[in-house]
Amino acid sequence: MKVVTTIKEMQEEIALQKKCGQTVGYVPTMGYLHEGHLTLLKQAGKENDLVVLSIFVNPIQFGPEEDLASYPRDFERDRALAESEHVDYIFYPSVDEMYPNKLTVRAIVQERTEVLCGKLRPGHFDGVATVITKLFNIVMPTRAYFGRKDAQQAAVIEGLIADFNFPITLVVVDTVRETDGLARSSRNVNLLPEERRQAPALYKSLKAAKSLIEQGEKNPPRIVEEVTRIIQTETSGKIDYVEVYSYPELKPLNFLAGRIIIALAVKFTHARLIDNLMIEID
Ligand code: PAF
Repeated sequence: MKVVTTIKEMQEEIALQKKCGQTVGYVPTMGYLHEGHLTLLKQAGKENDLVVLSIFVNPIQFGPEEDLASYPRDFERDRALAESEHVDYIFYPSVDEMYPNKLTVRAIVQERTEVLCGKLRPGHFDGVATVITKLFNIVMPTRAYFGRKDAQQAAVIEGLIADFNFPITLVVVDTVRETDGLARSSRNVNLLPEERRQAPALYKSLKAAKSLIEQGEKNPPRIVEEVTRIIQTETSGKIDYVEVYSYPELKPLNFLAGRIIIALAVKFTHARLIDNLMIEID
């Protein structure tokens, strides 16, 4: 496994590998790897000759009030985990390497951002789309792997790849959960012990919504009400949103049909958690 810190070296290495016919699976991350990331790396390893992991805490996707400074970082731990997952390259650039000057051009995401996290984090997905455009041009992967937990991010990346004609296949991998149902996230370590005990209620509320739908419920506000009730009764977290949309368009629905997403975000003392469930309705 090789750790590469410059854009030039990464591009040269990949160009050489691709010349030899190697396919490249790419997992972009902000580090502090957890089981969810390892699942993406495992799948990338099965489907490609080479696996590239990038670790870059991208400052331009954090708002002024967000957790850029406290975002957890531990490169040595990440390096060991990557090694155990047979990663071939870690791309680990500095902020100066990625943003040596003020950007003259940046990506603006025009659809799929007015809802869910996008609504509460203005500019966030522009920052994600901008860094991913740069990273795609640096890593030039055959396939790129994203988690379904960040469903809105996956929907935005799907649009980016299509609109900017990246010759890259998007692979969206199911959410990995703790045994108690809590979706794995780098931010879980920032939960207070009592909050960690409460947090599985988020997934429980989504499953309760799913079973209401399976019993024939078609009314979106009824689903939102049930999810909200469970979170408010069982956690001390503050709900940012509980919303139901079509997927991947992320459009509101008058009644539940087709492929839908129920998504939520809940703020705890030092961590804001998101989760979602995708459901196909006949
Ligand atoms: O999901 C993340 O960790 C980040 O948003 C990503 C995709 C690595 C872009 O910085």
